[in-house]
Amino acid sequence: MKILVIGGGGREHAIIMKLSESSRVEKLYCTPGNGGISRYAQCYDVKATDIDGVVALARELAVDMVVVAPDDPLVMGMVDALEAEGIPAFGPNKAAAIIEGSKAFSKELMKKYHIPTAEYEIFDNSEAAIAYLKEKNSYPAVIKADGLALGKGVIIAQSENEAVEAVRSMIDGRQFGESSARVVIEEYLTGPEVSVLSFTDGKTLVPMISSMDHKRALDGDKGLNTGGMGTIAPNPCYTEEIAKECMEKIFIPTMNAMNTEGRTFKGCLYFGLMITPKGPKVIEYNCRFGDPETQVVLPLLDSDLCDIFEAVCKGTLSETPIKWKTGACACVIMASGGYPQSYPKGLPISGLDDMGQTDGAFVYHAGTAFKDGKFLTNGGRVLGVTSAGDTLEYALDKAYKAVGNISFDNAHYRKDIGKRALNS
Ligand code: AMP
Ligand code: GLY
Repeated sequence: MKILVIGGGGREHAIIMKLSESSRVEKLYCTPGNGGISRYAQCYDVKATDIDGVVALARELAVDMVVVAPDDPLVMGMVDALEAEGIPAFGPNKAAAIIEGSKAFSKELMKKYHIPTAEYEIFDNSEAAIAYLKEKNSYPAVIKADGLALGKGVIIAQSENEAVEAVRSMIDGRQFGESSARVVIEEYLTGPEVSVLSFTDGKTLVPMISSMDHKRALDGDKGLNTGGMGTIAPNPCYTEEIAKECMEKIFIPTMNAMNTEGRTFKGCLYFGLMITPKGPKVIEYNCRFGDPETQVVLPLLDSDLCDIFEAVCKGTLSETPIKWKTGACACVIMASGGYPQSYPKGLPISGLDDMGQTDGAFVYHAGTAFKDGKFLTNGGRVLGVTSAGDTLEYALDKAYKAVGNISFDNAHYRKDIGKRALNS
């Protein structure tokens, strides 16, 4: 098979490396890709959000399947456009991708189908939102932009002042454009967070191994929110008992709810969960593989990813065996100094071989360029240095050793990835 992957980060690199293990895969393409991905797949410069450009590229390359990995092209309807041309595409269509594209939609869905989540109200008028905040008078309060906001659309306000400011800048100031014309104000929940990605063809849903993200920039979960500074899998907070409860009360009900709404979800459905004292609740849905969760989940997959993608597209997932390796996996993100705010680009990276790899790890490139035989930094998150092992402790040790082999000016990484999991 010839497969084209859309996107250009660590998640796409992990998908491509896993696909490259399949004996059925003859050729891998990626657009736009990045420096590291270009060593494993032929890259093009069509943007991930350029639907017409991607359809034309897929036709020109005569690919057998397109894997649409990022949220924005999915929410914009890239899968619909590919399927209209008869090109099989892995990922939800526009009607189903709304589960991530609109938090107001996903909250209403959960309310209607009794899927456990934080209590909430939806507002498109800042005065009404502020009146509600004053009436509730409960802090922290959680304020979320309705639409996609590059992972920055959630504010945990510690006081009325902060909450009012967040509401005004989102609704009145259109801080995230039309994405924040509406906001969800919800109850603050506590408990460990778990990410569970799943494969679903709308009839069968198969959860993948659980994982834990580390969203804050600095050690001890301090500093600004980022796209994710590291991950581990499996997540020790996700016991078998909790997994069973999630399957019964959250995963299957969500798949069925989407079917009932006429929005059958096919692809990777991501459940962002919090294990509260009252049981697991949904914090968010994503309509795609998580980044950097994918980097620790796919290395533990012991089945052919190409077969699974094909089964999801054809609706034959129930007949496709999906096996997992034992052991654990850890990913440490090396970021540019300054991330998630401003940072330089174009710094030379040392310690990588010609394929962009180093001993003892899979190095998934998130933001690199490959020029004149050298890797350069080209983004906020630069590399996801990932190792697997029999135990989490061993996987972390290997990943941090590999991080020690690699350097660029002002590289920043957290030293405590997996620490909380080891102590839990
Ligand atoms: P999201 O972008 O929806 O994943 O939210 C970002 C982060 O905000 C989550 O990973 C949680 O840590 C936190 N968060 C979101 N919703 C809530 C909530 N209702 N209660 C507490 N924390 C939350
Ligand atoms: N790591 C969280 C996400 O992909 O949204």
